[in-house]
Amino acid sequence: MEKRRLVIIDGHPDADPARFIHALAERYEDGAIAAGHEVRRIDVATLAFPLIAVRADWEGGEVPADIRQAQEMILWAEHLLILYPLWLGDMPALLKGFLEQALRPGFGFAPGERGFPKKLLKGRTARLVVTMGMPAFFYRAYFGAHSVRSFERNILKFVGVRPVKHLLIGNVEGKAETRERWLERLFSLGEKGI
Ligand SMILES: Cc1cc2nc3c(=O)[nH]c(=O)nc-3n(C[C@H](O)[C@H](O)[C@H](O)COP(=O)(O)O)c2cc1C
Repeated sequence: MEKRRLVIIDGHPDADPARFIHALAERYEDGAIAAGHEVRRIDVATLAFPLIAVRADWEGGEVPADIRQAQEMILWAEHLLILYPLWLGDMPALLKGFLEQALRPGFGFAPGERGFPKKLLKGRTARLVVTMGMPAFFYRAYFGAHSVRSFERNILKFVGVRPVKHLLIGNVEGKAETRERWLERLFSLGEKGI
């Protein structure tokens, strides 16, 4: 099997190891290592960066050291596994703040011809893993999985990352056996490097 360069972006704002997202990230990493893939990890909760508030900072300000390191990992990656809990129907603000920091003009995209930005992260694929309290079918059917689709199209495809797959894990606060099955699923995805 083809060996891949995988970067796990754990987007849970709480570094407490009891959070299920961290267990999912770890199990994916275990599977990937067992299969011989190269893996690096970005734990958003442990990074030091401010929120971007001023456009000039976004376009030309100094990039914080932790963000620069994360950008290097993203450049190195062939595939990104991005995990986060659904908060108020969307990604947690800290993960959005990280993406605003990392995917700056000149890194994620650049001005292109006739107003179409150039995508600077082409050649990479991604998968989103999103946990939520509600059943996943309800998030899909009633909410149209809108925030996940926005992440895929407005953010990842905008910088050239495609295709993007997703895995929605609903009823996450339910039975322990179900959580164990999701952990096994993540191990298997890690082994395949997808
Ligand atoms: C601030 C906050 C907002 C939340 N908003 C939602 C929501 O909009 N929809 C939902 O289904 N679950 C929501 N939840 C439940 C989380 O999605 C759930 O607790 C999380 O996925 C569990 O994973 P964890 O153990 O890694 O935190 C919310 C939880 C928190 C703490």
